[in-house]
Amino acid sequence: MIRLAGRDDLDSIDVIERESFPLDRFARRNLRRMLAGGRTRFWLASRDGQAAGYAALCFRKGARIARLYSLAVRDGFQGSGLGSALIDTVLGAAGKAGCRAVRLEVRESNLPARKLYERSGFRLLSRHCSYYEDGETALRYERSVTAQDAYRQETDPL
Ligand SMILES: CC(C)(COP(=O)(O)OP(=O)(O)OC[C@H]1O[C@@H](n2cnc3c(N)ncnc32)[C@H](O)[C@@H]1OP(=O)(O)O)[C@@H](O)C(=O)NCCC(=O)NCCS
Repeated sequence: MIRLAGRDDLDSIDVIERESFPLDRFARRNLRRMLAGGRTRFWLASRDGQAAGYAALCFRKGARIARLYSLAVRDGFQGSGLGSALIDTVLGAAGKAGCRAVRLEVRESNLPARKLYERSGFRLLSRHCSYYEDGETALRYERSVTAQDAYRQETDPL
């Protein structure tokens, strides 16, 4: 099940973030600030009562392009469709918010994530050398938000 997350979900999101990203991860204080602020929306995916993954989508005032800040599914829960379901959820929310597209950056070496994004309809926009602190290149992807996305439910039972 996927639901909107709030401040009380900080611990779960922080654990998923730390387990999923050895580098370039959000510090706990930044997650707390984003969960309390109005600009970034978080969704938490659970399975068998356990926090399994999350997605964070940032909406900038006046901008019609939302930015997927983070997407992560914990090791033991990967490969069962949670990543795709979280992407469907954020696309639905972006559509309802009137956005025309969702953008994201991903490490060039992150083949599982790139495959998932490409399968979900994201198209490569640009390549950014030395984008990450360890010098790795980022690929920027964009997915247009369709009318169909806008009708998706924010809480899809899995
Ligand atoms: C990328 C990630 C979110 C995918 O989550 P997931 O729940 O495993 O994704 P799904 O089960 O919905 O898989 C959908 C597709 O993703 C791709 N995929 C998922 N895991 C993969 C793997 N280990 N190797 C290659 N492709 C993979 C496949 O295309 C898969 O489709 P398939 O089932 O037809 O093979 C997850 O691997 C993850 O959290 N990784 C660590 C954090 C990360 O890199 N996040 C993205 C940062 S930009």
